[in-house]
Amino acid sequence: MATVNQDPASGATGRIMIQLDGLRRVYRMESLAVEALRGIDLTLAEGEFAAIMGASGSGKSTLMNILGCLDRPTAGRYLLDGRDVSTFSRDQLARIRNHAIGFVFQDFHLLPRTSALENVELPLLYSSEPLSWKEIHARAREALRVVGLEDRMEHKPAELSGGQQQRVAIARALVTRPRLLLADEPTGNLDSRIGLEIIDMIQRLNREGLTIIMVTHEPDIARAASRIITLRDGHVRLDRSLVPLSVEELAERYREDDIEVDSGQEG
Ligand SMILES: Nc1ncnc2c1ncn2[C@@H]1O[C@H](COP(=O)(O)OP(=O)(O)OP(=O)(O)O)[C@@H](O)[C@H]1O
Ligand SMILES: [Mg+2]
Repeated sequence: MATVNQDPASGATGRIMIQLDGLRRVYRMESLAVEALRGIDLTLAEGEFAAIMGASGSGKSTLMNILGCLDRPTAGRYLLDGRDVSTFSRDQLARIRNHAIGFVFQDFHLLPRTSALENVELPLLYSSEPLSWKEIHARAREALRVVGLEDRMEHKPAELSGGQQQRVAIARALVTRPRLLLADEPTGNLDSRIGLEIIDMIQRLNREGLTIIMVTHEPDIARAASRIITLRDGHVRLDRSLVPLSVEELAERYREDDIEVDSGQEG
């Protein structure tokens, strides 16, 4: 029986949401096969906030794509809420992507010629939920309010800062009311102060019960999570449960780093 993280500091309920058994993913190209995942065994509880770390090419995005039902494993099992995702039809997978899972990416992936509000409405247009236009507008406005952008709804992405664009992307991920948020380097394109604002929002969503898996290269950002899973060459190399640091504690670490850099330059 796999053990799950039950850190009281996180919102984890102990109920297993994700179970991976011997998960493998081989990318086959003409004469070459790349083994991106080489047998991943992992269990994540509902309400967890886990960070995924590892060097470039270690398989982080490949794992996220499978978790998000954007891709299928070559071998092994992925159980989501106890159901084997590999047995799902295309339609079932699309439904899960649209209803259960929200995605946030490093480069925001917003439609450039479309307002923040319309960007956030988009997933609801593909939803199988029968929503009226009025409901779609109301849900999108509510999601933008949650991320603090109610006064920027008519702005196009180019008229927003990087941090604001990422908040629009988070609103778009939340508008379908998912249970799982997958974020692949959500702070990768943002400076550290703005990155911490995004982390603050992610921690808040986690406290409210959303399960979160976040890829990051930055060890300090990973410390916002209550669990850090490190991949190496398609394997889980380390899997640690930690008391998560608050955004204030993380900001303090950044300040200390700045002081070290400053005094280093002076000396
Ligand atoms: N579509 C693809 N076709 C072939 N090989 C791929 C494909 N996507 C990823 N790979 C290979 O699989 C391995 C894992 O890639 P992946 O994108 O999962 O790494 P990552 O940990 O997300 O790296 P990064 O930190 O640079 O984003 C790499 O060797 C990569 O070259
Ligand atoms: Mg990646």
